[in-house]
Parts: sequence; C-alpha cells; structure tokens
Amino acid sequence: MPESEVIMEKNKNSSKDTKELTLKTNISGFDELFSEKGVPKGNSVLIAGGPGTGKSTLCRQICYNLVSKGKKCMYVSFEESKERIRRSMESFGWNVEKYIENGDLLIQKINPLDILRMKFGSIGGSGSATELSYKIKPLVIPKDFNPDVIVVDSLSAIIAASVTKDKNYRVYLQQLFSFFEETGATSFLITETDPLPDRYSDSGIEEFLADGIIVLYNIPKKDERENAIEVIKMRYAKHLKKIVLMKIKESGIKIYPDKHISIK
Ligand SMILES: Nc1ncnc2c1ncn2[C@@H]1O[C@H](COP(=O)(O)OP(=O)(O)OP(=O)(O)O)[C@@H](O)[C@H]1O
Ligand SMILES: [Mg+2]
Repeated sequence: MPESEVIMEKNKNSSKDTKELTLKTNISGFDELFSEKGVPKGNSVLIAGGPGTGKSTLCRQICYNLVSKGKKCMYVSFEESKERIRRSMESFGWNVEKYIENGDLLIQKINPLDILRMKFGSIGGSGSATELSYKIKPLVIPKDFNPDVIVVDSLSAIIAASVTKDKNYRVYLQQLFSFFEETGATSFLITETDPLPDRYSDSGIEEFLADGIIVLYNIPKKDERENAIEVIKMRYAKHLKKIVLMKIKESGIKIYPDKHISIK
C-alpha cells in the first residue's frame, strides 16, 4: 500500500478535515523539522528526555496552539494537578481558562491508584494477567469528546501503575498503543529517560510500537546549558536528522532547525 494510503487509512476517523494529513503545531521551528510541515495525524509520538528538558512545556504548547485554532485536546497528567498545569501554561502567557471552560481543553489528573482499581475492578473469568490487561482502558475519554490531540504526561507513570514487567508486558503495551490509534487522535506520550538516552522508553519496547520518537536534551556548554531537540523517527514523514537548538523562552518554546548542536 502506498504510504499516502496508509496515512488515509490511519486517519479516517480522526479529523473533520480529511484532506489535511498533517498536524500543524504552529510552534516556531517545530513543524519545519518535517518535510510535510507537521506531524502525520493519528501518529503516536514519544516525547523522550531527561528531567527538565521541556517535555511537558512542548506538549502544553502544542495543546494551547491547537485549542486556540478551534481544535480539541486532552492532557492527562499523573503527577501535576489540573490547577498547576493551568498555572504553568498561564506563566507562558497562554490564556487557557476559556478553553478549559468551553471544554476544548480537557485536563485530567489521574491517580495511578485509580488505574490499579480499574484493573482489579474489572477482573472476570480466570483473572489471568493477559485477560486483565485486555480490559484495562488506561484513560477514559468522555463520550462525544473527540480530541485531535491526546497528551499523556507521562507514559512512564501509566506503565508503572498498570503492569509489572512480566511476560505480558509486550501484550499490554501493544494494547495501549492500539488504544491510542483507535482514538484517531495524534498522541504525544512523554517518557522519562537518561539525559543522553540510548533508549527512549522504560522497556525499550515502546519505541518500536510508537510511530514517532522526539528527544529533548539539556546539554551542558561551558557555563550554561543549552536545550536541543532531535527527531529520531517519524513514520509516514521525512524529517530532519540532526540535533538542533531549542529555546524555552518566556513566551514558550522556539526551535531553530538551522542551528545544529553537538552533544559532546
Ligand atoms: N514560565 C516559564 N518561562 C520560562 N521558562 C520556563 C517557564 N516555566 C518553565 N520554564 C523552563 O522550562 C524548563 C522545562 O520545564 P518542563 O516542566 O517542561 O520540563 P520536563 O521535561 O517536563 O521536566 P520533568 O521531567 O521534571 O517533568 C524548566 O526547567 C524551566 O527552566
Ligand atoms: Mg514534565
């Protein structure tokens, strides 16, 4: 099947505008990392990086830019409260209050214990681990809410809460990624890694299941640190294969696709 048909197939339920196959984030320099000027819609994308590299900020900015263009986003957090997320967005001057009120931006704080409860609440039949994992719906998307984007902050937390690293781990992860694909949304899944990762997820399996991997860095340079970004893979898209400068400014993230950064 030609790639364009694959994209059409993946996105058939995802957008009212079926002609537009790429998700434009309107983050300065970000869309330009891809030849089609955006991320293929419907893709699941890992946003990987060490602590404080800007993973949450990047995803929140994507949400803000999209809701201010009339799209719908769902931001699921395991660590930060809805209130703190709203305040952190406002600290960049992104006035999200009205989008939270009109329902276009849905911020959900999930207690990892609730996932465990969902898991044990749904036991039936033999109660085998495979059967359990089959029944876990990691997030509850409200009926009639069809988000264009789903952010999970973080996938590392969802997995830690949901499953032990036994032999059913891969099955669970496959189901998790199928779940994201079935929503039709483009999903951004944050994973916590080493500062200079050679693996982009907790088990190493997620990076094969995800359609895309974007890594954020915080690199020491003389007496300061520089933020940088790299697209490791993006199915259905050509992309830049370099580490480039990223700045976290008072008004948000800006990326400089022409400024290459060395991580040595
Ligand atoms: N309002 C702001 N204005 C400018 N810079 C900010 C602002 N808020 C945060 N930052 C900078 O952005 C950095 C990245 O923050 P962010 O929370 O997005 O990182 P993260 O990768 O999600 O971190 P963690 O792994 O701890 O979740 C902060 O360390 C800080 O330097
Ligand atoms: Mg974060």
